Parts: sequence; C-alpha cells; structure tokens
Amino acid sequence: MAGVDRRTPIRRLLETATEGEPVALTGWIKTSRFSKNICFVHIFDGSTPRTIQGILSADLDPALKSRLGIGAAVRLSGTWKASPGKEQDLEVAVETIEVIGDCAPSAYPLQKKRTTLEHLRTIAHLRPRTNTHQAVIRIRNALAWQIHRFFQERGFLWIHTPIITGADAEGAGELFPLANALEFFGHPAFLSVSGQLEVECFAQSHTDVYTFGPTFRAENSNTPRHAAEFWMIEPELAFADLDDVVALAEDFLREVTHAVLDQCADDLALFDRFIEPGLLAAIQAAVAEPFARITYREAQAILEASGASFTYPIGFGTSLQAEHEQYLAEQHFGKPVFVTDYPVEQKAFYMRLNDDGQTVAATDLLVPRLGEIIGGSQREERLEVLQAQLQRRGMSDEHLWWYLDLRRFGTTPHGGFGLGFDRMLMWLTGMKNIRDVIPFPRTPGHAAF
Ligand code: 4AD
Ligand code: MG
Repeated sequence: MAGVDRRTPIRRLLETATEGEPVALTGWIKTSRFSKNICFVHIFDGSTPRTIQGILSADLDPALKSRLGIGAAVRLSGTWKASPGKEQDLEVAVETIEVIGDCAPSAYPLQKKRTTLEHLRTIAHLRPRTNTHQAVIRIRNALAWQIHRFFQERGFLWIHTPIITGADAEGAGELFPLANALEFFGHPAFLSVSGQLEVECFAQSHTDVYTFGPTFRAENSNTPRHAAEFWMIEPELAFADLDDVVALAEDFLREVTHAVLDQCADDLALFDRFIEPGLLAAIQAAVAEPFARITYREAQAILEASGASFTYPIGFGTSLQAEHEQYLAEQHFGKPVFVTDYPVEQKAFYMRLNDDGQTVAATDLLVPRLGEIIGGSQREERLEVLQAQLQRRGMSDEHLWWYLDLRRFGTTPHGGFGLGFDRMLMWLTGMKNIRDVIPFPRTPGHAAF
C-alpha cells in the first residue's frame, strides 16, 4: 500500500494514529471474534502491551475467515476510525487482510484460557507470546538498557571479560569444565562464574569499569532463585573502599528501579494486578528512603533478639540463610539492607581482611521478598595478605599469578559488587521463580531448549 510503512511497530502506530488516516501493520492474532454482521481481530507484535483492534466486514471469504484464528501471523491494511469500544480510542477498519503464517487452531499449545507458569516452561519457544512473558521480555530489555545508561552516564567503561577462563573467580568450585580444554588450550578451562577477577585488571587501568554478561554456576541448588546460567553486572572501582561500593550499589539500585518503573509502567501494572498485588507500591516504598546498613554481627544480634524460630542455626559463624535474609529485609527493616563485614571463612579469598582478622570488608544487599540481590566487597590489595588468604584456603596461586601482579604493580584500594540481573528482574516483576524471567532458563536437568 503506497505511502504506508508496513513494518512500523504497533507501539509507534498507536502513538501517531489519526482518524481517517491509512494504516498497515503486521503481527499475530491474539483473539478473533466473528458474529453475524462483524468480525474483530486483535493484533499484537510485542512492541507494546497494547493490541490493535481490526474490524472486518462479515462477508469475508469463509476460507480466509477460517484462517484468522489465534496465533496466525497476518498483515492488514485499512483506515483508522473512532472506536465505540472502551478499550481503545481508535480501531482499524480493515480493507485487506492477508495470512502470512497459518496457525493450526486445534494443535496450537497456547489457547485463550489461562495456563500455569509451570506449564509454560515446557513450551519455552512459544511462551513469549503470552501476556506475562511478553511483558517480562520488555522489562528485561528495559532493565538492561537502564543499567547500561546508569554506568555510561557516570563514565564507567563496559569491559567484555571472557566467558572461557582458567580461574575459579569465587573459589567455590562451582565450575562447568570445558570437555576438550586440555587438548585445545593445554590446561583446564571453565565457563566463567564471574568476570570480577578479569575486570579488576581494567579497574587498575581505567578506574571505573563494569562487566555485564552471562555467568555460569554448576551449583546443584534447585531453588526458585538459582540458575546455572545467569547474567551479572559487576562494577569495579579503583581508589575506593567498602563505603564507596555500598554508596554506588544504593544509587544504582534506586536509580535503575525508578527508571524501569517509568519506562515500563504499563507492563509492570500487569504484574501488580495478576502476579503480586501491591507490587508497585512495595517497590516504590523500598527505594523511597535510604537503605539500612548493618554488620554481620549486628544482623546476628537482631536475629537472636527476634524470638522467631528459624530452621537453620544463628549466631556468629553461622551463614545467613534465605530465611534469615528475608527476616532482616522484610520483617525487621522492611526495606533493602546492606549487611557488611562477614566472617572470613564464609567469603571469597579476594575480600579484604578487616583489622580484627576475623571478618572481611564484604557486603550483601538483601531486599524484601527476595533476599540477596547483590554481593560485593572491597578487595584485598595487599600482596602478602592476599597470598596468606589463598594459602589459608589451600588454593594454589599458580593460575592467579596475573591477579597477584596487580598487587605488585601500582596496587590501589579497590572494590565492586555483582548484581544478579535475573534476580533484579524477579524483584521488579514479583515473579517467584527465576525460570520465569529468563528466556531459556538453564537449571539442573534442563538445558535442552
Ligand atoms: O555473590 P556473588 O557470588 O558475587 C560474585 O560473583 C562477585 N564476584 C561479585 C563482585 O563482587 N563483583 O554473586 C553476585 C550476585 C548474587 O548476589 C545474586 O544476585 C546473583 O549474583 N547470583 C545468582 N543469580 C542467579 N542464579 C545463581 N545461581 C546465582 N548466583 C549468584
Ligand atoms: Mg553472594
């Protein structure tokens, strides 16, 4: 059709829709309804939560009509006209409609009736067409964009750290080994659990940097919050201490949250309505005031004084379990809380030893409903102390000689944190399972498609 761009996204079309103007669009049929005198089709294309309603005359060719069911890919053209319906101001009086891709109605796994999130995981190739996953994907995109924007506006450089690595960055042994590494590289190699060690090299050359990429963990924890493949954002700052790290993490979480609330108001409204009633008010309240900050010792004291009965033990030296984290963030503070200065035994070798010799300059940020969303620390910048930390854990420094070199040549106090991207998405959407915010989740027993 002359003068009309057929690939204009529905989001754009709705912004510029003018009564009486011609319009052409492509998309998939969300619903169609045929009555004696009139036919309705609702078209979506993923660019917006909204659909366009097309009105067809009832004397449509019956063969064509039978192909206009849910899921069919279509192209249509017509004219914008005022809509008598409440749902939209304008609708399209359709002049031509063409089926680009048929969708067998009886075999199509996505029918009009609502289905469960669990079931949708078994059809991960089609679930992006459902309302919920349409929205998840748009919010995921917006979150990634706003995260980059936050750092770019502050002059942080995005560093592409390797996915294949010889080092166990967290020292926790949760690595996926590459099967042919020995013959190919001449040494063992793994999928990276974190870009931190490598990005530290760039903090020591470019001062303010960050990574944003996929990370892999072979931890066999089949929980709603763990995936074997997830995305992480890891800023790293030279000439910085734990206070700088905490301050950045707080600014970051607050600003990015506000930006996504703004950008995705329509999509988030769906989660507020159907997934987690009160979600938006809770998120806004969580980022309205300064976050709380306590030490691990203080956290233990709060748990001891709580009178609550926990499944796992509490007290100095015990690790904070999900139930403890939730108690602190949700019941006690009712807002995000930084816990700092954990016992040295519980944390990674690279964290800076405090003067007490028992704790390290670490921090976890715990948020209501979810628990840990960020883990970070000041790094050990003193060569001898770092070597002692490796020794204490029985770790060899053979593969980390370059990491130790950073402490030999122009070392600086420095630090950073890692945000679990998919966990942040859970927090923003109220989705309870990480499998429902990742396009193709990888979890124990699941990596086929
Ligand atoms: O606390 P973690 O293990 O910290 C690091 O990897 C550091 N190198 C970060 C740094 O200081 N640069 O992981 C950081 C965050 C966690 O707080 C959590 O949100 C997320 O990554 N995370 C996971 N998300 C999904 N599935 C998993 N299996 C995760 N493990 C960690
Ligand atoms: Mg952690």
